[in-house]
Amino acid sequence: MAYVCQKCGYRSVKWLGRCPSCGAWDSFEEITEEKPGKGGAAEPESWLGEEPRPLTQIPSAPLKRLSTGFPEVDRLLGGGLIPGAVILFGGEPGVGKSTLLLQIAASLARTHGPVLYVSGEESAPQVKLRAERLGIAEGGLYLFAEQSLPRIAAAVAELSPTVLVVDSLQTVLARADGGEVGGVQQVREAAAEIARLAKLRGMASFLVSHITKGGGFAGPKTVEHIVDVAIYLEGVRETDLRILRSVKNRFGSTHEVAVFRMGERGMEEVVNPSVFFLSRDRRPKPGAAIVPVLEGTRTMLVEVQALVSPTKYGPPQRRCAGLDYNRVLVLLAVIERYLGVHIGMSDVYLAVAGGVEVREPALDLGIAAAVLSSLRNRPLPPHTVVLGEIGLSGEIRPVRKAQERLREVEKLGFKRAILPHQEIGSELSLELVRVKTVAEAGEALGLSG
Ligand code: TYD
Ligand code: MG
Repeated sequence: MAYVCQKCGYRSVKWLGRCPSCGAWDSFEEITEEKPGKGGAAEPESWLGEEPRPLTQIPSAPLKRLSTGFPEVDRLLGGGLIPGAVILFGGEPGVGKSTLLLQIAASLARTHGPVLYVSGEESAPQVKLRAERLGIAEGGLYLFAEQSLPRIAAAVAELSPTVLVVDSLQTVLARADGGEVGGVQQVREAAAEIARLAKLRGMASFLVSHITKGGGFAGPKTVEHIVDVAIYLEGVRETDLRILRSVKNRFGSTHEVAVFRMGERGMEEVVNPSVFFLSRDRRPKPGAAIVPVLEGTRTMLVEVQALVSPTKYGPPQRRCAGLDYNRVLVLLAVIERYLGVHIGMSDVYLAVAGGVEVREPALDLGIAAAVLSSLRNRPLPPHTVVLGEIGLSGEIRPVRKAQERLREVEKLGFKRAILPHQEIGSELSLELVRVKTVAEAGEALGLSG
């Protein structure tokens, strides 16, 4: 006998009115735990039926990977979908999870055999309607509106799909006595059971999970440890762009991103996202600096925008959108100290154009350049990008993968890069201006004094 908080999963031997872990009220539910029975209980079904073997005797076989038909999604997954992989697909309601997964499911059904799409939220006709809108009519794609885990498992046994999609995990009922729908216990048990089925059958599985702010649902974090891959779909403020981001990947690198555009006929891959995050008007303007940032292995050019203006009343304001606030405060202090400028009596507003969130050391020099440019009311030189991490003593430090970034910069027609002293492998047609300190960078940009 135990009690479990349905919000955060905290366990207690007695019922509590308020959860000591997450502070939720009246969130404890009694759970009955299945004790490993003496004699009578069946042995749990084997995962893969394997025996322990010495490492040296295990043949090294390259992982088989299925193409999803979406090159960007394949890249995000580390080169395709691995049979038996369990993928958590998180995102806020309405961001486009069901749309993108239906498209991926249809594409997989076309090339790799039956795909079972289980919907616990929408009826089969509703999903069919969406499929029609997306122009999907795939014979190998099976729809199943169901919430009961045993019935989903039975359908899997019958159909033997290559890929299973469960939309969403929060609507699956693992057990009749497992607490409320969408609660921690149901969600965890459902995820664990589907993961076991996936491994046993070599069936790749996508588990949709909603992120809700302060909702009563067990969010994706409660099952991240169970899955092989965790990816999240995010909206970009006030645009039709969507960013798919990997935060965990047992078969590839994490922090990869793929960019999509939500259109009339579903999600479309944006193969060259850089352009979207730059403002249409590429003419230099005061307070704007363009930085090639890395998102996983993907370079994107973003525009940092700054507005510095004298404080009219009250304490000076420091606001930023899409940037790390604490980092910005540190950089402002470094700029004041090493460029001999006074911003202590000015309001400073910073943003990344296009509404993206960027957290990357290479952005430091872009932030400094944008602030300085606004302060001087002079634009940066045309066709120029800046990159570099700034240290506390004003030195410019090397950045990761400078060469890859610069190649993208070159492709997009820029002519000059202000960057740290570091090795750049191949020859580039860009003019490279290397700087050691923020003061040197200010000079190189024509912004000193
Ligand atoms: P949906 O995939 O249902 O989101 P989620 O499963 O993450 O909750 O998408 C919801 C929104 O997407 C809805 O507002 C309508 C819009 N949409 C399009 O813009 N184009 C389309 O082709 C489709 C199917 C939906
Ligand atoms: Mg949905």
